[in-house]
Amino acid sequence: VSAGELTEHLQYWQDDVKVDRYRRALVEVVRPGDTVLDLGSGTGLLGMLAVEAGAGRVLAVENGAISTVTAEVVERNHLDERIEVRQGLSTTLDLDEPVDVVVGDQIGGFVFSAGVLRFYADASRRLLRPEGTFVPGSFDLLLAPVQHQASRDAIDGWASAPFGYDLGPFHERAQNLVRYVVLDEDSLLGTPQACGTVAAHDDRRFRATLDTHVTTDGRLDGVAGMFVGHLSPSVTLSNVPGHPDRLQHRWQDLFPLGRGIDVVAGDRVEAEVVVNPVSYLTSWSIRVTSRAGHVHLEDHSTFEGALFDPAWFRIAAGRPVAIDGVARSACRVIADGEGAGVDTAAVVAAVRAEHPGASAGQVDRLVRSLVTLLADGPGEPQA
Ligand SMILES: C[S@@+](CC[C@H](N)C(=O)[O-])C[C@H]1O[C@@H](n2cnc3c(N)ncnc32)[C@H](O)[C@@H]1O
Repeated sequence: VSAGELTEHLQYWQDDVKVDRYRRALVEVVRPGDTVLDLGSGTGLLGMLAVEAGAGRVLAVENGAISTVTAEVVERNHLDERIEVRQGLSTTLDLDEPVDVVVGDQIGGFVFSAGVLRFYADASRRLLRPEGTFVPGSFDLLLAPVQHQASRDAIDGWASAPFGYDLGPFHERAQNLVRYVVLDEDSLLGTPQACGTVAAHDDRRFRATLDTHVTTDGRLDGVAGMFVGHLSPSVTLSNVPGHPDRLQHRWQDLFPLGRGIDVVAGDRVEAEVVVNPVSYLTSWSIRVTSRAGHVHLEDHSTFEGALFDPAWFRIAAGRPVAIDGVARSACRVIADGEGAGVDTAAVVAAVRAEHPGASAGQVDRLVRSLVTLLADGPGEPQA
């Protein structure tokens, strides 16, 4: 276990809002004797709250090294007859009987980026009984125009030609990446607007739109995605700055502009964000219209950032992967696909339709190796 991991998990115990809201939600949802799956259990916090709420049995599954110590903690607290800890990803877990409740909190800034949607979707197909309950069950998504100096510096730094060297290609990548940021109320240039709701186990692609007006003069650095999660019928949890149910340690996802735009109250900001919760492929466009009618428009996608960059595939594969137009189409078709499980034959057909000159065997081999690379999705982000 690393020092960083321990510090992260201590923060979860020290977040009074989080513990209080999960405790209340589990009391509302868990019925005496229920079996509960604590998905991404860390130190076992939510599983222990589930036992408090009356669960008969808790299965705690955790992928990280932290789980090796969690079993000791469970024993120390005389809960080993109720809580069983298993190390591994929930997607590799097999159960004899489906559970009554799944609880977890791997919620990203704009929900998808810590994996809840894709892991809960898998749990709903294999691990939870049909009428079972997810905690949280759904999320309201919100978008807001924001100013964020550290992100601006991290993008603009690549454009500054240090020592006279042109680092432009890195500048292009930097503006096509989602940034995990911690915002306060002063970062908001307008009130966060609700832009849709997703069920916690829905891993289909979603699209969120924003059409709002700036309320505070400043420099627009991008649009931030945030959430209000419904833990149970009467309990919510959020990462929206200033929200009374705000988690103390949860980032927001910033979809940046390539360059900061000076804005004044009354300027209009429109945005569209499209997310694939399985591959994390995220595309966004932001349009700013000043009161004088001047328009600034930018389109970005993580497909153009490092994640789906040819270099990323080369590194991830651990060997050279010939990256050409065919490979780019294959990456895009795979990453843009709906939900979990890739239909390899359909991807091959789509790529061949775009590149009729490419040999069937070459496309087939390429698609298979890229599907394998993408199968586990990207790693967990850190705030
Ligand atoms: C945000 S932390 C919360 C830990 C714990 N639930 C708590 O409340 O303190 C999420 C944890 O889930 C783990 N995790 C995320 N996805 C997982 C998965 N699909 N299977 C197993 N563990 C997972 C991560 O390693 C991390 O320790």
